[in-house]
Amino acid sequence: MGNNEVERTFSIIKPDAVTRNLIGSILQRLESNGLSVVASKMIRLDREQAEGFYAEHKGRDFYEPLIEYMISAPVIVQVLQGEDAITVNRRVMGVTDPAKAEEGTIRADFALSVRENSVHGSDSVASAEREIAYFFAPEELCERD
Ligand code: PPS
Repeated sequence: MGNNEVERTFSIIKPDAVTRNLIGSILQRLESNGLSVVASKMIRLDREQAEGFYAEHKGRDFYEPLIEYMISAPVIVQVLQGEDAITVNRRVMGVTDPAKAEEGTIRADFALSVRENSVHGSDSVASAEREIAYFFAPEELCERD
């Protein structure tokens, strides 16, 4: 588990959730679990942005459909802050495949498939730093208590 330190993580509310007007429901789950928004914006990813973000998966069979899906509608990109934010966010999200996700998680309750799985969350401190910097300039992050 985490080490009880206040940290930041990067989150995406993905096209399937935005399209179904689930932004508020998902944010409510995140906020009520101690995650505070320190940056947030809605963007329509272009192909280059999506490919860069998912570069580590290039060559996998799911890569091209994943890119097509991520550019198919707007997303909400966010920076969340809280104690053990990376671990907490991943617990609240549930595992990648909604069919395997624990009851009560965002993916179990909202996701449609392993691709249309409603949310993304950083999996490590290094990923969080890379992903935050990929979408936000340092001055876009607000101070929160
Ligand atoms: S893996 O296989 O361990 O690298 O998978 P993971 O770390 O969960 O990240 C995979 C990301 O690609 C999305 N995606 C899929 N994964 C597996 N199988 C299929 N078919 C698939 N389709 C899409 C998955 O949702 C992960 O996206 P993010 O945004 O990182 O959660």
